[in-house]
Amino acid sequence: MSSIKVVGGEQLKGELKIQGSKNAALPIIAATVLNKGITILRNCPKILDVFHMINILEELGCTTNWEGNTLYVDSSVITTPSVSEDSVRKMRSSILFLGALLGRCHEVTIAYPGGCSIGKRPIDYHLNAMKKMNVTEEFLGDGDIIHCYTDKIIGNDIFLEFPSVGATQNVILASVLSEGRTRIFNAAREPEVTELCNYLQEAGARICGKGTSYIEVEGVKELHDVAFTLMPDRIVAGTYMTAIAATYGDAVLTDFPIRELDSVIRVLRKTGCKIETLDDNVRVYCKKRLQPVEIIKTQPYPGFPTDMQSQMMTVLCLSNGESTIVEKIFESRYQNVDELRKMGAKIDLEASENKAIITGVEQLNGAVVKSHDLRGGAALVIAGLAAEGTTVVQGATSIERGYEDICRDLAALGANIRYCSESAS
Ligand code: EPZ
Repeated sequence: MSSIKVVGGEQLKGELKIQGSKNAALPIIAATVLNKGITILRNCPKILDVFHMINILEELGCTTNWEGNTLYVDSSVITTPSVSEDSVRKMRSSILFLGALLGRCHEVTIAYPGGCSIGKRPIDYHLNAMKKMNVTEEFLGDGDIIHCYTDKIIGNDIFLEFPSVGATQNVILASVLSEGRTRIFNAAREPEVTELCNYLQEAGARICGKGTSYIEVEGVKELHDVAFTLMPDRIVAGTYMTAIAATYGDAVLTDFPIRELDSVIRVLRKTGCKIETLDDNVRVYCKKRLQPVEIIKTQPYPGFPTDMQSQMMTVLCLSNGESTIVEKIFESRYQNVDELRKMGAKIDLEASENKAIITGVEQLNGAVVKSHDLRGGAALVIAGLAAEGTTVVQGATSIERGYEDICRDLAALGANIRYCSESAS
């Protein structure tokens, strides 16, 4: 397991391009099995989760290769509709092959994805939806392997109890080659759902309502080859905005998904951070002491994203007052609190309401801290950038799941940061 060593105190300056979107790449990589042909996916981030999804494609019989950040997939041949237990255990997003393989092969065998550090992560919405589309589900082994099969997928009305991103994506993946029409009520509106629809429409799918809470899919007979350029990663973009704010820096982020970050930009401006937009570029700077924000609640899109909660918490730890965060999406996304306390942060938790009350301090102090999930790890790196002295973030491999190279990117903005082995930390 690698660590990241940060020497705090540098104000981030300069210019940085934002990488392609992890959470758009993952469902689209699953979707590449649907067109029985070629996908050219440009601006694809080279991150652990993408490499993992590619391994699964190869397990299934597809061939892949890279040219720079362009991923080529040939899904002409699928030799088996089974995703190994090991693959699913390593990364829960593999569950997106449930809908994709049902769409392609009318069968799939896949392990039940476990929970993770931020929550139980159940898939009941996914399985209930598949059953409504004429799919039979049986549980093999001691119940942790799911075998789903059907003679044909029949479109239906799907009512989601919660606008689940993954469940919305799996229903879309299963319905694009089905018979009839599927209507999704209370669909997730996240930009990554829209991006999946954009890719599938490029390949010939018939989808309307993308980006709204009502999505309609008319099944077609087949999809064709497609070349597609991925949108930039809005969470990576938001992460680097908060890093600039926390270090009282002044920097420009290019290829920036401005429209998809409205809620984060709005909150950051409340802290006194200045954000100027120019085409697809954004200048972020902060010259005065960060201000607290009365309350931030994480919500489904377009509300404040749960994936930015940890990063914003770090910023608020440095403000001159009291702020409150309420995590409404996941049941245990405050793993960073104990780590930030080691650096001198003042945070109280009210577990019953999933609430964190942050009292800002003048200065954080460097410490050895541990990353529990990729966004929490990135937030600890930000804390290290702002802290007095040296911080070592252990378990940094979790950060590499979603950030192509956080040390490369932040060093390009002047940070004193590098990877180091756990033992050297
Ligand atoms: C996606 O996860 C993202 N992952 C997550 O980003 C993100 O935090 C999450 O959406 C919410 O925005 C990818 O896109 C690969 P959900 P997903 O289904 O689809 C409950 C990151 O850091 N639920 O919208 O798994 C669930 O427990 C990751 O990049 C059920 O109860 O999220 C959670 O409380 C972390 N039953 C809520 O819904 C279900 O069948 C939202 O989950 C499905 C979900």
